[in-house]
Amino acid sequence: MASERTFSIIKPDATKRNLTGAINQKIEAAGLRIIGQKRIRMSQTQAEGFYGVHKERPFFKSLVSFMTSGPVIVQVLQGDNAVLKYREVMGATDPAKANAGTIRKEFAESIEANSVHGSDSAENAKIEIEFFFKPEEIVD
Ligand code: CMP
Repeated sequence: MASERTFSIIKPDATKRNLTGAINQKIEAAGLRIIGQKRIRMSQTQAEGFYGVHKERPFFKSLVSFMTSGPVIVQVLQGDNAVLKYREVMGATDPAKANAGTIRKEFAESIEANSVHGSDSAENAKIEIEFFFKPEEIVD
């Protein structure tokens, strides 16, 4: 598999507990390179737009409120098979179902406050990266 990019968010529950470095360590240990990274406060408009696909889900309102409740780190990760590799490093959405050693198993608080987001396909990664990054903010 050729080198690929994925999009990551370190969520408010993790930044609040000072876990940015610990999460980045797991990302880098897996061979993924952090080629773009910034700490931002997501606006309500950004959160609603980013999670637009979940608009009809019962957890949407709470999710938007959570994602705007504190700082997040948005990231571009690059490496072989980056989308799938990062999903393995994150573990299942529900931390109760995540494998040992994954970010969510070790750090997540709940299915909502699950510490990280990662793209589910290369196609969505491109859309999500363009949602938060200007080309010049990504340096590989
Ligand atoms: P994420 O991978 O960012 O994608 C959607 C987010 O919605 C998910 O992680 C969780 O933070 C949140 N969420 C809250 N409740 C649920 C649920 N029941 N199923 C899936 N995602 C949920």
